[in-house]
Amino acid sequence: MKGLILSGGKGTRMRPITHTAAKQLLPVANKPILYYGIEALVDAGIKEIGIIISPETGEDVKTSVGNGDRWGIKVEYILQDQPAGLAHAVKTAQPFLGDDPFVMYLGDNLIKDGVGPLVREFEKGNADAFILLKEVENPSSFGVAVLNPDGSIKKLDEKPAKPESNLALVGVYLFNKEIHKAIGLIQPSKRGELEITDAIQKLIDIGHKVGNHILKSWWLDTGKKDDMLEANRVVLDEMIEVNLEGVIDAASKVSGRVTLGKGSRLVNCTVRGPAIIGTDCLIENTYIGPFTSIGDRAHVSFAEIEHCILREDCKITDFHGRIADSLIGVNVELTRGEHRPVAYRLMLGDDSKVEVV
Ligand code: G1P
Repeated sequence: MKGLILSGGKGTRMRPITHTAAKQLLPVANKPILYYGIEALVDAGIKEIGIIISPETGEDVKTSVGNGDRWGIKVEYILQDQPAGLAHAVKTAQPFLGDDPFVMYLGDNLIKDGVGPLVREFEKGNADAFILLKEVENPSSFGVAVLNPDGSIKKLDEKPAKPESNLALVGVYLFNKEIHKAIGLIQPSKRGELEITDAIQKLIDIGHKVGNHILKSWWLDTGKKDDMLEANRVVLDEMIEVNLEGVIDAASKVSGRVTLGKGSRLVNCTVRGPAIIGTDCLIENTYIGPFTSIGDRAHVSFAEIEHCILREDCKITDFHGRIADSLIGVNVELTRGEHRPVAYRLMLGDDSKVEVV
């Protein structure tokens, strides 16, 4: 069994953050989203992973992930030269995949329960493909499955305007070599892409068996800012542990599950977990509230920060205000002259400089 992780695309829904970074490298609880996918496949026993990259962000993905040594696996990169769809990505990866069965994992998806049990179920069973479904409130934003009364798949539609069910296709799929045949038989969709949803429908049409499993635990597709914050909230809520490696002065109070990285200092601060603060940060006279992730080397002073992701090297100094529900890129400088009680909700791309006066 091989793994295929899709980490291409342009991340248009996350601009300006994605002008300078691959959306799959954005951090959730200070770890790139993409790593959660890699680790889910590694935990399932997969030793060879192909990562689909785009010309725009491929080099960053390669630099970040490396050759897979740190997970004891082999990682190969496959360039998809245009964002022509998920099925096009599989077609591009065919030389890597050969005739092997594989798990395809969309690099901006997070699922709670990992993929090990699904891989084993697929390997035991006689299906040619296996999909994961999840009840959602906005099915028209996803691929949608309609099931027969016996639970088998009746049909699949990609982002239908009038969805016939609330079961979305989760971005984790298991395939054997039959999928390549099906991809060869489909045409680009209305949005001009070769859709994996259409290829799976084609598998069914030509008589192959496609299994499905309805997820009960959480699934997050981190396409937009609020999805990122929600992913950060859920992951901090479930995974963060107390681990205080930095220095906390006598005037600071830390409560709940908080991780404070090596070389970081809290000076006259209140931190309420779950929250993570990276390494070599300086946080002074500041309140850090629940569901906040602060990247390495940040400097924050006189601020209140809650339910936020701050990336590495941010400087939020002399702010005298509250920042909530915000996603702030790498190396952002944010400062504020006046002392009025306010709250800001921000999405700031890397290297932004904001002065509120
Ligand atoms: C893709 C698939 C869609 C699936 C979704 C899951 O959509 O086309 O069927 O439900 O991933 O994240 P996209 O994110 O490319 O819009």
